[in-house]
Amino acid sequence: MSGSQIRKVAVLGAGLMGHGIAQVCAQTAGYDVALLDVKQEFVDRGMSMIKDSLARFVSKGALDKQKADAILTKIHPTTDLEVALEGVQLVIEAATEDPKLKLGLYRRVAEYLPPGAVLASNTSSISITLLGSATKNPENVAGMHFFNPPQLMPLIEIIRGARTSDSTVETVRAAAKQMGKETVLCKKDSPGFIVNRILIPLLNDCIRVIDEAGITVEDLDTALRYGAGWPMGPAALVDLIGLDIHVHASEALHEKLAEPRMAPPARLVRMANAGKLGRKSGEGFYRY
Ligand code: 3HC
Repeated sequence: MSGSQIRKVAVLGAGLMGHGIAQVCAQTAGYDVALLDVKQEFVDRGMSMIKDSLARFVSKGALDKQKADAILTKIHPTTDLEVALEGVQLVIEAATEDPKLKLGLYRRVAEYLPPGAVLASNTSSISITLLGSATKNPENVAGMHFFNPPQLMPLIEIIRGARTSDSTVETVRAAAKQMGKETVLCKKDSPGFIVNRILIPLLNDCIRVIDEAGITVEDLDTALRYGAGWPMGPAALVDLIGLDIHVHASEALHEKLAEPRMAPPARLVRMANAGKLGRKSGEGFYRY
């Protein structure tokens, strides 16, 4: 399927990543989008984040107001899976990173998925092969990993599961291009794929240096921004990713690769347990 043959996409999960993915699908690719979550309040919050983001594009002159309004009309919020999946060519799953929850969702999606539609997961730590095994057609399942914030980050990693077909990979690649994104292909369904396999332990090292070198969080961020050219410091980046998501991704890598650097630093685990999840909770290393 070419990128322009896709007309309707369902995005499952209206959270930090899901809302941004739905926005990119409508804004750049021009797709009709069903945005699904389990509760109306989650869907409403997703729609409100999309409105805020569109307003930022409008305020800096990157988008005119009429276009922003037209983009919003292409995104249809719902809590009904059957309605969301009706007539879709592509499903992008961006649900909570919980294997049990995702496997249950994949089994339900398999009931309503139109024949030939591709099911792509935005998972950062769960095996695509495992997710595919919960469906009737694992050849139609692939990884489509976006980066936060999806509206601005230009990369999508595409991941092949053990049974993913060539045509599924091509459909996901075509959709990513239609969304204006750069793509890279992981031929193996490996832990952390490319970016997270490197970035998560690197961020863990950065956070450990706070105590090792007796520095402030601000100095850590200044050091990496001005000494290594990072667009934002590591502490600010962990706040953006979300401490819960970062800790979860670290634990998943540590479980699979058993290297000490992969394990989340105690400081991060303490903060996550205390509800300091970064931007989304209003406090992490910084206050928002
Ligand atoms: N929607 C629309 N516009 C947005 C926006 C959003 N969601 N977020 C930020 N912007 C706009 C701002 O309004 C601002 O506009 P302006 O230039 O007119 O002022 C512009 O983007 C730049 O934003 P900021 O000034 O706040 O900050 P930066 O210049 O630092 O840019 C950034 C923001 C693009 C996020 C940049 O800091 C960056 O590239 N950071 C690194 C992000 C990164 O590494 N993400 C990957 C994390 S790993 C991951 O996601 C994988 C997962 O599995 C864990």
